[in-house]
Amino acid sequence: MLSEIQETRVGSLQTFQSTQLVKDKYENILEHLDSGIILFNRHGMLTFINVQMARLLGASRSSIMGCSLTQILRQSQLSRFNKRKILRIYKETIFYRKRHHELSDENGRYWLLTVTYGDQMDGDFLLSAKDVSEHKQIEQTAYQNDKLAMLGKISASIAHEIRNPLTAIRGFIQLLRPHLLQLGKDEYTRIILMEIDRANDIICEFLNSSKPSAPQTISVPVIPLLKEVVLLTESEALLKGCQIVLDEGQLSLNILVDVKQIKQVILNLIKNALDAIGDVGHYHVGMIKLEVKEERNNVDIHISDNGKGMDHNTLTRLFDPFFTTKLSGTGLGLSVSYRIIKNHGGTISVDSSVGEGTKFVISLPKAK
Ligand SMILES: Nc1ncnc2c1ncn2[C@@H]1O[C@H](COP(=O)(O)OP(=O)(O)OP(=O)(O)O)[C@@H](O)[C@H]1O
Ligand SMILES: [Mg+2]
Repeated sequence: MLSEIQETRVGSLQTFQSTQLVKDKYENILEHLDSGIILFNRHGMLTFINVQMARLLGASRSSIMGCSLTQILRQSQLSRFNKRKILRIYKETIFYRKRHHELSDENGRYWLLTVTYGDQMDGDFLLSAKDVSEHKQIEQTAYQNDKLAMLGKISASIAHEIRNPLTAIRGFIQLLRPHLLQLGKDEYTRIILMEIDRANDIICEFLNSSKPSAPQTISVPVIPLLKEVVLLTESEALLKGCQIVLDEGQLSLNILVDVKQIKQVILNLIKNALDAIGDVGHYHVGMIKLEVKEERNNVDIHISDNGKGMDHNTLTRLFDPFFTTKLSGTGLGLSVSYRIIKNHGGTISVDSSVGEGTKFVISLPKAK
């Protein structure tokens, strides 16, 4: 009889242990999932948080487990930025009951938060966060291309609308020329024609710069190309007390590019760097570095500066046409550069931090 009871006990202990093992196993999986998970109970108390979610919220799991929102927000080791983030998530999802909420972390990665609640959750609120940065990047590139296409269309229609009357005016002035000559006013004709031509040139220049034509690529050595652009900007750099250093290590590398267009891109980037350095203040010793690196079938051109750097908002919009933070900027420099590099089958990327500086990397096809 006793042994029967003992057997039953051993049996239930084994069942308990194996249930515990399974529970631990699943908890372990949840804890280390690459998506973030957090669970609040019906009283607003945090009952579970996994490693990824704690990382996203910048919190230590043990210190916030079992805490209410107010207790979490009182924690001194949590930064203000992260407290604001937690409060926003709580408000949007639990308070306003929105099923989805999007946020970006300090590394510029995008996260999509999905909330599950209702009958099946027994009063709990389950929030899961998924890294959607890549998806977002594809979305942004598509948006960027749409905007550039729109800009191309607007430019073409402006050109059409302005060029046509200009051509008509030019034609009539030429017809009037003999009469004006008789009146001794040929000088006026000359000036009118010259000004019409100037206006036409301005339109052409704008069109060419906002809508780069298909690149006429040739193989050119990259270092001499960079040297020429540096030469063009040296006097401006000197005025700003800034040094431009070109690392000439990769002398033998050739790239397959449209020289005029790539010079325009490098010039845009150096000018932006000079502006960013100029904004730091007079006593700052500015430095712009140009380096060339060979990467498989590409050649990477690194252009870095120790200027004022960019905040997150600027970083997400800097390739948008007409986006500028400068009083006299057009905001076309980088959007045109982006299009030129794309037309070459290359890429342009940027890394920047406020107060430290910025680095652009242009990757272009290597000439065989
Ligand atoms: N190296 C850099 N450092 C800091 N901010 C930069 C840098 N390069 C670009 N930016 C930011 O990106 C914005 C867009 O640059 P972009 O070259 O497209 O236009 P812009 O320089 O403002 O005007 P434009 O080039 O037409 O004169 C700038 O206004 C600036 O805020
Ligand atoms: Mg610019």
